[in-house]
Amino acid sequence: MRFSLLKNAALAFAIVALPACGAEKPVEPSDADITAAREAAAALGGTLKARLLAAIAEGGPISAITVCSEEAPEISLAVSTDKAVSVGRTALRVRNPDNAPDEWERRQLEKFAAAIEDGVDPASIEYAEVVTSGETKTFRWMKPIMMDGPCQLCHGEEIADDVRAAILAFYPEDAATGFKFGEMRGAFTVEKPISDTRS
Ligand code: HEC
Repeated sequence: MRFSLLKNAALAFAIVALPACGAEKPVEPSDADITAAREAAAALGGTLKARLLAAIAEGGPISAITVCSEEAPEISLAVSTDKAVSVGRTALRVRNPDNAPDEWERRQLEKFAAAIEDGVDPASIEYAEVVTSGETKTFRWMKPIMMDGPCQLCHGEEIADDVRAAILAFYPEDAATGFKFGEMRGAFTVEKPISDTRS
């Protein structure tokens, strides 16, 4: 009898204590934000690839480097404005130090790489989270970018000497070479500040 009373007391305490913890419960990413992130990544990826292929066909890989160096940031900005999110690209090994991952992005990139290594289909991988930092909540989303044919010209294992030299002239600290076909090159990364939904 005494034992069960104690048990009930503990239960009552747990029920009272729960709502207080509940106030801090994580916010789930919304479907609308996930859709916007997917659209922004697809628009950035699609536009960049089309521009890249056209430039390579027109003037070869060296002239196409400026598509990446000059147009990539411009296209990112235009898509970000259009989709009301901030979209960019990042990687564990970057060409442009401005694209280096922050701690959260690095964690996701490492998880993506491990999942792909374990045989998970890269096309099925994406990750969304609402990250809280102090009073600020940010929707964050990432999706792997894989190496395919034309990428080899500038990120592959065997890069022509003149292309290599042109890349190094723009990016002396380039670490984004030596990738194999079908390997993860990096990821799209999307951010959007969200208003507090606790009220
Ligand atoms: C003509 C050379 C060239 C080709 C081809 C090319 N890239 Fe790049 N890539 C670059 C340059 C230059 C940058 C740096 C862009 C910048 O300054 O933001 C870059 C940056 C990136 C980044 C951002 C992270 C980083 O390293 O700074 C990713 C991801 C990427 N490329 C993926 C790809 C993929 C996938 C393909 C194939 C579809 C591809 N690239 C084809 C030259 C190229």
